[in-house]
Amino acid sequence: MPYRPTAHAEYDDIAAEYAASKQLPFRWIVEAPTLFQLADDVRGKSVLDLACGEGIYARKLARRGAGPVLGIDLSAAMVERARASEREQPLGIAYRVGDAADLGTVGAFDLVLASYLFNYAQDARQLLAFARTVAANLKPGGRLVGINDNPRTALGRFGSYAAYGFSREVERPQRDGARIRYTFPLPDGSSFGFDNFWLAPATYQSVFAEAGLADFRFVDCTAKLGEDDDPVLWAAFVHDCPITGLVARRPG
Ligand SMILES: C[S@@+](CC[C@H](N)C(=O)[O-])C[C@H]1O[C@@H](n2cnc3c(N)ncnc32)[C@H](O)[C@@H]1O
Repeated sequence: MPYRPTAHAEYDDIAAEYAASKQLPFRWIVEAPTLFQLADDVRGKSVLDLACGEGIYARKLARRGAGPVLGIDLSAAMVERARASEREQPLGIAYRVGDAADLGTVGAFDLVLASYLFNYAQDARQLLAFARTVAANLKPGGRLVGINDNPRTALGRFGSYAAYGFSREVERPQRDGARIRYTFPLPDGSSFGFDNFWLAPATYQSVFAEAGLADFRFVDCTAKLGEDDDPVLWAAFVHDCPITGLVARRPG
């Protein structure tokens, strides 16, 4: 049975709220520095940003010298926001609406970026479709870098990340396909959220190998603190980290 994505309507509805959540401190203290460290020097490198959302990382990598950069997302609303930013401040980034599960080959890239894509796979078959798209679009020797919901985190059912501006609730039993609900309170007292899906680390390992990608591994997040940031607060975050980096490469 072909993979039927479920996420596009969700992000069409929450595009503005999700963009606002990118202002939370964990995004720039943990998420972005981890991603940049994994991406390393992107100058002159071609980048495919799968599940680019509103293009936040496509833009950041273009500003760091990457090019050409292509962003793909399932949600037309997210792609429209990305295109609006490109119109406002042109960086030469192209965006397309597309499904990472059946994209086929759209180019041969030095780097594929996947920031919160794989956690939308509800089973190994869907994850394999994403991983095959990555492999099909990397040059030999090219690299995948990503950020993901962390399937290794030890936190129990009600992960309280209230101090960081959200909650993460994992359905039990925690087995492949278990739902992970992220909820973000809003200033007006309401909230918004979205679902990710838990797959065992061993499922990730075997699926990426099956897709022909080498050296898949999760990479612990690090916190890059500013002068005013509380080291104890952020040590606790990375200790029971809700998110993880990940890397793999196409054999050269
Ligand atoms: C949590 S957002 C992350 C956006 C961006 N990468 C970032 O880090 O801000 C997840 C994105 O994945 C997109 N997405 C979910 N399933 C997808 C699929 N099958 N193909 C392409 N994009 C998908 C959603 O539309 C949404 O924009």
